[in-house]
Amino acid sequence: MSEPVLKAVNLNKHYSLGRGHEVWGLKDANLSIEKGSWLAISGPSGSGKSTLLAILAALDRPTSGELFFNGENLSSANDVRLAHYRKKKIGIVFQEYQLFEELSALENVSMPLVVTNLNKKQRQERGMALLESVGLADRAPHQPRQLSGGERQRVALARALVHDPEIIFADEPTSNIDKKAADSVMKLFHSFNKRGNTLVIVSHSQELAEAAERQLYMDAGRIVS
Ligand SMILES: Nc1ncnc2c1ncn2[C@@H]1O[C@H](COP(=O)(O)OP(=O)(O)OP(=O)(O)O)[C@@H](O)[C@H]1O
Ligand SMILES: [Mg+2]
Repeated sequence: MSEPVLKAVNLNKHYSLGRGHEVWGLKDANLSIEKGSWLAISGPSGSGKSTLLAILAALDRPTSGELFFNGENLSSANDVRLAHYRKKKIGIVFQEYQLFEELSALENVSMPLVVTNLNKKQRQERGMALLESVGLADRAPHQPRQLSGGERQRVALARALVHDPEIIFADEPTSNIDKKAADSVMKLFHSFNKRGNTLVIVSHSQELAEAAERQLYMDAGRIVS
């Protein structure tokens, strides 16, 4: 049997806000994600979806539990290893996009390529190709504040895909865009997945849930099904 690309064992995330105010962002999460699979995560607001995604993407450390990437225990990995995982192995689309405000759309998209051995011209070409694939070639020089919400979302998606990562983590990637833009995002996800890559997507979208081969439902910090 092939090794899962990601494996989470008893992940917990506990927030202590003082004065006895305690929140479990995540409780006893166990999860095994096969390479090349497509996982959809849904659940009510506050149920822990973004928390789980942040821990799987090694943006946040769990309070307890372990995370394995291709068999490597990331929970005990040092910061250099974690940065390598984040920069080279995965792509992330945040709920709030997190684009660099002072950079153009093209510069934002090409940014992850700085750590590769591509030269500037190659990075720009690759960035343009990705912008084109999300229908934003003509917005390349725009800064994020000169873009609509849905356009920013698509720039963030192009950026997450530009270095051809093994796994994409996306938090509500189609929440702000119209049908036509959502269709082009779906196409991108399908071709990414067809190349054998893995998708982990938080969404309430029926279409995204149906495209996934596996659905996970969260409630009050727990994976309930
Ligand atoms: N830094 C923090 N400190 C304290 N509590 C937090 C923190 N971040 C998140 N929480 C709490 O953890 C719980 C899970 O939050 P999370 O953002 O994962 O929810 P979500 O399922 O992504 O919700 P939404 O659908 O609204 O995005 C929430 O109850 C939230 O209030
Ligand atoms: Mg969230």
